Amino acid sequence: MDRENSLSASAKTASKPLLRVLQGEAVWPPPVWLMRQAGRYLPEFRALRDKADFMTRCMTPDLATEITLQPIRRYAMDGAILFSDILVLPWALGQSLDFVEGTGPVLEPIRDRAALARLSAQRVAEATAPVRETLRRLAQALPSATTLLGFAGSPFTVACYMVEGGGSREFAVTRDMALNDPALFDALLDLLTETTAEMLIGQIDAGAEAVMLFDSWAGLLPPSQFRKHVIAPTRRIVERLHTARPGVKVIGFPRLAGVMAAEYARETGVDALACDTGADMARIAAEVPATLPLQGNLDPLILKAGGEALTTEARAIRDAMRGRPHIFNLGHGVVPPTPPEHVAALVETVRDVSA
Ligand code: CP3
Repeated sequence: MDRENSLSASAKTASKPLLRVLQGEAVWPPPVWLMRQAGRYLPEFRALRDKADFMTRCMTPDLATEITLQPIRRYAMDGAILFSDILVLPWALGQSLDFVEGTGPVLEPIRDRAALARLSAQRVAEATAPVRETLRRLAQALPSATTLLGFAGSPFTVACYMVEGGGSREFAVTRDMALNDPALFDALLDLLTETTAEMLIGQIDAGAEAVMLFDSWAGLLPPSQFRKHVIAPTRRIVERLHTARPGVKVIGFPRLAGVMAAEYARETGVDALACDTGADMARIAAEVPATLPLQGNLDPLILKAGGEALTTEARAIRDAMRGRPHIFNLGHGVVPPTPPEHVAALVETVRDVSA
């Protein structure tokens, strides 16, 4: 990088509180954004929803850009997360995918070698080209203080949906495959690890300033398999990204990992740890390096409830993290019945340091 470029890179970071935290700085008040900040709770999102199905919205740069910007206009969030889905990767690999109203995602399950062989890593770059176009537009459109976040699902969580063929409470078919046909399961995870890293490098080159790995079902695994199927692939992705695009930060979200979260943070090399609703962030803070940024972790149902409880809990989380790098967020996504004015109240509470 020449001198002019490196100066402009640091000038850019200086104006973006979320990027500063990802570099290890304790910014006060902490930057704030919310998982699923673009979603059904917003009337302007519901208005666009009638115009196109979910995958069309993800794959049409006009629509995906507009949906990503909606919560930024309303709340001036510090982070704008690309509007897309973790299941875009299986779709790009060639697996059939439908989002069915009231049911959620439905995929043709991958349960044998023939089904795995029909997937093609070669298709991913071209199939995800519209996502990169969305990121390029967002990089131009966002306010200078807003950090643009790309993302992907972690290999284990994406494999859960691919093998099961949709959502599930326990993902028993997937966990059975991991135990009974480890060669097949490992081949699937390897494919996902490689293509996830490639796809994220593409997102970074298109304008994503940091990326997040969503491992929503990490907590289903016992420790030995957590190390194998969650920590190891995540470490490979983080190493690839750090080597290919030095300086770009990775946020890891091992949901429901409980006591394994600190080990995940230490062993994967992620640059920040996103904490789920059940995590005791003060305890996790004591178990990871003091310079490791933590993200989280207000209960989405407290946000939905609003009122005094919301203000009290939001301040408590913010204040407990004071003095260390912290990004304020929820412990999981915004739920659809959340009143939009509760989100406004939350952002105001986090930013009001007089209280
Ligand atoms: O956070 C954001 O606003 C960015 C966009 C985003 C979506 N999904 C949009 C979406 C992100 C980061 C995701 C991640 C995702 N997708 C995860 C990991 C995070 C988590 O919630 O645990 C998972 C497991 C998925 C898979 C998925 N996508 C499911 C199970 C569903 C259906 C259930 C549901 O919540 O509606 C989706 C659909 C989906 N992805 C919607 C949105 C806004 C809802 C579709 C709609 O309302 O039209």
